[in-house]
Amino acid sequence: MWWLKEVWVIDPSQNLSAPRDVLVKGGQVLEMSSALTEEEVLELAQGEQVETIDGRGKFIFPGLIDVHTHLREPGQEEKEDILSGSRAAVRGGFTTILAMANTQPVIDNRALVEFVRLQGERAGYAHVLPIGTVTKGMQGGELAEMVDMKAGGAAAFSDDGKNIQNAEVMRLALEYAKLTGLPIISHCEDKDLAGEGQMRRGMASARMGLKGIPASAESVIVARDLLLAEETGGKLHLAHISTTESVDLIRQAKARGVNVSAEVNPHHLIFCEEELSITDTALKVNPPLGSRRDRESLIEGLRDGTLDMIATDHAPHTQSEKARPFAEAPFGIASLETALSAVWQYLVLSGRLSLDRVIEAWSVSPAKRFGLPGGSLKPGAPADMVLFDPDYSEVIDSAQLVSKARNTPFLGKTLQGFPVMVWVEGRLVQRNRSVI
Ligand code: DOR
Ligand code: ZN
Repeated sequence: MWWLKEVWVIDPSQNLSAPRDVLVKGGQVLEMSSALTEEEVLELAQGEQVETIDGRGKFIFPGLIDVHTHLREPGQEEKEDILSGSRAAVRGGFTTILAMANTQPVIDNRALVEFVRLQGERAGYAHVLPIGTVTKGMQGGELAEMVDMKAGGAAAFSDDGKNIQNAEVMRLALEYAKLTGLPIISHCEDKDLAGEGQMRRGMASARMGLKGIPASAESVIVARDLLLAEETGGKLHLAHISTTESVDLIRQAKARGVNVSAEVNPHHLIFCEEELSITDTALKVNPPLGSRRDRESLIEGLRDGTLDMIATDHAPHTQSEKARPFAEAPFGIASLETALSAVWQYLVLSGRLSLDRVIEAWSVSPAKRFGLPGGSLKPGAPADMVLFDPDYSEVIDSAQLVSKARNTPFLGKTLQGFPVMVWVEGRLVQRNRSVI
């Protein structure tokens, strides 16, 4: 049994932000109260050994749930595999991750869904929930067997990495979403508008002499998918929203009652296109970093609930691929191990977002929308939880990262505010920054 003494609990699922003593037993949160005596704790322990943790100066919150993680297994295990990715997850404070389907082969049938789920269980760190593709082979044509994949454990469906260009296919997918009850996650990017672009089209792309992706490449598909969700009633989730126009469209659609949720990535909340450099591909990501105005709209959208959740889009790549010239390097940032600290340091410490909102958006809201366990520390809930030390600072060092990937803009930089203990169903999986 665990006894966390005088720890500051952040649990938006019960509107709680206050110091408490927290007891964990049998994989669940047993009790939370203002102050427990040793006698009370020993009685509740019923003979079980009690490990006491001094929680003063630290926060405890429900483990983060990341609905957008690329794990690369099967097929590209040199970039990441399910074991390394799920270890990176718990090092970063994530107790549940949804694994994207754009592996090699893509996850488009029940056997592959079961493979990803079992590999996650064998690894034994974060809960790994597979996402199946929407279309067979991720080709954007014939729909995959979504009902069958759900039976195998799929938590959502997505062709992420690629847009579904054919509007009739997207409409049908949203019709099917009503049968499974699971969300269709849309990677909104009009293929023709995006063309061969390498970064957001604008002053910065002109200066760098790179082909640009206009903001409309995202927002025209956001508009289309919102209309299709409205017409069908299917459950739509919009991945990595990055433009002012998209935020406005989602806000209007929500006001009309459309069945939609949306996520924003930490890098779009923190960086903008001006920070890109032709000699550094770490911030080359898709959708590309936008303008300062976009970044402001995203923060505002997250504050007012237009954007429901934060998700990493953890996209591991090898160093040799990322060392290519800017126009030839792959898109993506590996972020599981740094995302929470970066959000803490750049957005919470600066007063732009409250920690309560961050936890709501990264744990409570994904649990609710995707129907997942976790997202709460109410007594009886699974003890998926994070002890966070706001003062702990660390240099992001290649030797310490447990992900196989090194494509992070924070390499060599110091970040402050880290998870120092992480439990999955009451089992300690990370202590003092080391994965157990
Ligand atoms: O930057 C990205 N990387 N965006 C995506 O949509 C896909 C991802 C990947 O798979 O590398
Ligand atoms: Zn994507």
